[in-house]
Order: sequence, then structure tokens, then C-alpha cells
Amino acid sequence: MAKYLAGPGGVAQGELTVPGDKSISHRSLMLGGIADGTTDITGFLAGEDCLSTLRSLQAMGVRIERPEEQHVIVHGVGLHGLKAAAKPLDMGNAGTAMRLSMGLLAPQQFHSTLVGDESLMSRPMERAAVPLRLMGAHITTQNGRPPVEIQGTPLTGIDYKLPVASAQVKSAVILAGLQASGRTTVTEPAPTRDHTERMLRAFGVDITTNGPTVTIEGGQKLKGTQIQVPADFSSAAFFMVAGCLAAEKPLLLRNVGVNPTRTGLLQLLLQMGADIKVHPRGDAKEPIADLEIRKSRLKGITVSEALVPLSIDEFPVFFVAAACAEGETLVRGAEELRVKETDRLAAMAEGLTALGVENELHPDGLWIRGGNGFRGGTVDSHGDHRIAMSFAVASLRAKGEIEILDVANVATSFPGFVELSRSVGLHIQTA
Ligand code: S3P
Repeated sequence: MAKYLAGPGGVAQGELTVPGDKSISHRSLMLGGIADGTTDITGFLAGEDCLSTLRSLQAMGVRIERPEEQHVIVHGVGLHGLKAAAKPLDMGNAGTAMRLSMGLLAPQQFHSTLVGDESLMSRPMERAAVPLRLMGAHITTQNGRPPVEIQGTPLTGIDYKLPVASAQVKSAVILAGLQASGRTTVTEPAPTRDHTERMLRAFGVDITTNGPTVTIEGGQKLKGTQIQVPADFSSAAFFMVAGCLAAEKPLLLRNVGVNPTRTGLLQLLLQMGADIKVHPRGDAKEPIADLEIRKSRLKGITVSEALVPLSIDEFPVFFVAAACAEGETLVRGAEELRVKETDRLAAMAEGLTALGVENELHPDGLWIRGGNGFRGGTVDSHGDHRIAMSFAVASLRAKGEIEILDVANVATSFPGFVELSRSVGLHIQTA
């Protein structure tokens, strides 16, 4: 099992571009697959998660070319052109691939089985199955978890109020609504990433957003398009925190996607006193900016619950920032972190404790007393990419080496993480 050895100290300065956005890459493949005509995707994230989506579309008869690693051409088969796969569709570690595929495939006229790795097979899928069944879908799970069996059938539009703030569930209902008869509306309890809505518009679909409610008429065709995937804010997050801890000279992160439904971490770090400048670089379908970060004296904060969905994937590395900030930091209302690739509250609390950081676990959050840095030690990422990368960043303020176990899944979202980290001055090795 691969591990990292993260040497203490180092800097995080210079310039880098992190790989393409994972959420946008998944969506570009799925929408390209059911569009009429070809879709040309540049800046594609060639991580294992998105490759699971790519292979599943190929297994359903979509022809996909990859002239370069990050350049993908999808030959769309239209709304009704997908075919039954010969085998179960393996979504690997990717929750987004599985939940969005549930909405994509529920109205298709064939049977599909969705499976994944050990982590994904233990994650809750009823949250997506429930609204799809209300539309008429035939979907079964096993005690709420995969395998997900889908017997495709015609669907009818619904009005649905999401009980949890989840972009995956919202997107599953939108993708089903796109292929259902009549109108579908989805109302979310708090804003979540809106990449599906924005991208559908780029494919020529009429979808309206009115406050928390999204409305789509079924039966609309998608027209193949060009998609430039921005650098992933969630991958940039590791370097935003690294820069706050150790950018003796500025650290510049180029072409980062700064869709406001994703940038909660930026607000949290600024509230902590971070020196981060945002240089906007354009606002076509998705806003993009360069981020310039300098070493900062961080102060502990109480996180507003309204910012939780807007920074949901960034809490592991935010907790590392909190451990380095003067004073106490408290996060509550973040129980969703317990059903990610691993239980991220428990895994971070365990790792912080192993590195000598005082913390207290709540059912829906974490309290941390920061300011004393980390001692060296061993932490288990539990196979979660974001936990592994977060503790690699912690090494910048550690007094001894941090050994990070079970890191192979970093390849799901951030191929090249070690090389990029070393290029700006972190001391990380794979062992
Ligand atoms: C994602 C939505 C979020 C996020 C995940 C990607 C998406 O999940 O945590 O990494 O691409 O729609 P939830 O919908 O479960 O909050």
C-alpha cells in the first residue's frame, strides 16, 4: 500500500497550475455523451474518478477519443442513443459518477448495475434513489448502498425539495428531469455547486434558476459544444493553505475555477486573516482567477454554517489551517463529512490527535485548538485522497516527519500531486 513520507518544514512558493476540475470533468463527459454531435473538452482531469465515468460511457456505446491526456473528444449518441453495458458499470471511488449516473440512466430503456470500490460500496445512495422513484424510476439499492440496480423506464417530472444540500442529488434529478415528460423543479436547502446547470446552458438547454429553485422541461436536446475545464478549486485548496503556512515568497495558482458555489474556503481563510489576492481571468461559462498567496498569521474562527456546503470538500485541509491558527476553531453543521470517501470528521480528528493537536469531535463537526504546530508521527488517510493530501500540507509546520498511510487514491482527483508539491518546495516522497 503506497504511503507518503512528508519531511518537516519546506516552503510553498513560486507558481503552479493544478489539474482540471473533477466535478466539471465528470459532467462534460456525461452531457457530451447524450448530446447530438461532438463535444471537445480541454483541461480534462485525467484522474481515476473521471476515468471511471469515461469508461462507463464507452461501455454504453459512446465513442471517446483522447488525442492528449487532458484533451477529450466525445462523440455524443443523443438522448436515446446509449446502450446497455455488457457488465456492471464500475464507478471506482467516485460518488459523483455513481449518483449522477443514477439520474442519467433511470430514464434509459435498459437495465444497468452500478458498483464501485470498497469505499463507494459503503456510501448512501438512497438520497438519489428516493426522488428518482418519485419520478417513476425502478431503482434498488442494498440497505441503501450499492450495488444500484436500475431498470430504465419512462419518467415524469416532479417538484422536489432536497432534504440535504447535495449537488450530486440535485444533478441526478436534473439529469432525469431532462429526459422526463413535463417539467421538473428542484429546490435546495442551501446553495450547492451549480456546474450542471451552467453546463446544460452551454449545451443549449433551457434551464432556469430562481433563488434556490431550478426548473427544467423534459425532452430538450443537447448540442455538442466546447468545454474548457478550469483548474480545480478543491485541488488548489491544498496549496492555498500551504501558501498561508509557508509562502516566504508569493505562491501563484493559475486559472483556478472560482465559481462562488465552490469558494467557501477562500472566505474562511480570509476570515482567519489569510493574505490571498484574487486576480480574475475571465467569466465565460465558469469564472476563473489566479490566486496569489503569501505566508499569513492565521487566527481561529467559528465557521458559519452557511459556508459549510460551499466548502464541503475543503474541510480536511481547512482543519490543517485551523491547527496552525492562533486560538480555537469550531465547525458545526458539517455531518455530511461523515459520508464522504471516508468519515472525514473521524479521520481528521484521529490524524490530528496522532500529531499532537488538541481537538474534540462532535457528531456534526470538530473543535480544534491551534497554534502549536504538529509533532511528527504516523497518520492513516483511510484511503481518502483529501485526507492524505491535507496531512502532506501539515508537514510544512511539523517538527518531525509525517508518515501518511494508504495514499494511492490521491490519483482519483490529483494525479501529479507529489511532483507539483515538490516543485514549490514541500518535502514529500512516495514510499
Ligand atoms: C460533488 C458534490 C459534492 C462533493 C463532491 C462532488 C459534485 O457531494 O462533495 O466531491 O460534483 O456534484 P454531495 O452532493 O454529496 O454534497
